[in-house]
Amino acid sequence: MVSLFGNKNAGWVGVDIGSSSVKLVSLSQQGRDCQVDSYAIVSLPPSAVVDGSVENQAEVSEAIERGLKICGSKLKHAVVAVPSSAVITKRLEISNAFAEMELEEQVKIEADQFIPYALDEVALDFEVLGPVDNHPNLNEILLVACRRDDVSNREDAVNAAQLNCDIVDVDTFAVERLLSVLDAADPGALVGMVDIGAATLTLNVFRDGKIIYNREQAFGGNELSNAIHQQYGLEISDIEQKLRGGGLDEEIIEMLVMPFRQSVVQQVSRALQFFYSSGAQSQLAELYVAGGTAGIDGLVELMQEEIGVPSRVLNPFEHIRIGSRLNRDRLMKDAPMLAKACGLALRSFDR
Ligand SMILES: Nc1ncnc2c1ncn2[C@@H]1O[C@H](COP(=O)(O)OP(=O)(O)OP(=O)(O)O)[C@@H](O)[C@H]1O
Ligand SMILES: [Mg+2]
Repeated sequence: MVSLFGNKNAGWVGVDIGSSSVKLVSLSQQGRDCQVDSYAIVSLPPSAVVDGSVENQAEVSEAIERGLKICGSKLKHAVVAVPSSAVITKRLEISNAFAEMELEEQVKIEADQFIPYALDEVALDFEVLGPVDNHPNLNEILLVACRRDDVSNREDAVNAAQLNCDIVDVDTFAVERLLSVLDAADPGALVGMVDIGAATLTLNVFRDGKIIYNREQAFGGNELSNAIHQQYGLEISDIEQKLRGGGLDEEIIEMLVMPFRQSVVQQVSRALQFFYSSGAQSQLAELYVAGGTAGIDGLVELMQEEIGVPSRVLNPFEHIRIGSRLNRDRLMKDAPMLAKACGLALRSFDR
């Protein structure tokens, strides 16, 4: 097909269904560069997504539809993620003598041994990673399994919003992809990425671009919003807007936001202790901080000082061109919240 304006390749819109909002990111290829064309963040009612699972599909679809309108483009295809906590991944070693269909059967037989659900309730996928070192007759296979409901709830919510949900990914794969577009770390260095959302804090650790550790704990910005609501009687939606856009009273900042900032650092420090006690060989070389809570003024500076690891707010668009329709300042403020959606949209260029 002839393309008049360079090699414009619109791909999948990344749809991150979080517990407090849905985030959409759309990227395109502009010549050799990747560009962010549009994005949206649309709040969800608290009943829509609970403990990582879609409880009210209509509320989620409605938010995605509103997001599509904000993006203002004719996006048709989406990639969405299930949380890694809902997924079992396992590396298998299987003879390379199997033909494609037989391999699928063999993977199912092996999967049945460690998946704690009936296989007909489970969505299975696998990827052949390549030959096992020193065993040329064996292939290493990455198996991903998830309860069918966790996949279909998300797919259905996206499809009901007039999008085709082409791919259901795993959120850890999305952050792994994201790491590949950030500044490269030294070989062998451990890089941490902590996402502090509304309800969940997730720590991922990478070495040489591959994820080596993932753990979630129940902690997030909801604690701060609820405390402000209880003590000052503001509506939650008003609080969320002021946290993101500015305008909270100095007193609230001093009495509640600053102490909360301290507890965020404590929670991250606790997450790192779990990681180190899991047998880590060395200290993290750097720590990226993502999620809405990363937007608290001075958070990363305090983290760096107290935890002793160079820390910075994650900007997924560090090396991505910013489309002319977007307000750069607004995007930079929203950037850490858009990390997962951007990692999902990057799937468009995995070819
Ligand atoms: N500038 C800010 N300062 C403090 N908190 C903020 C700021 N911006 C957003 N937040 C908080 O971040 C949270 C939303 O972040 P995010 O969108 O990453 O969460 P989520 O993806 O919906 O939730 P989760 O990942 O836990 O399911 C809310 O609790 C919000 O109050
Ligand atoms: Mg989130």
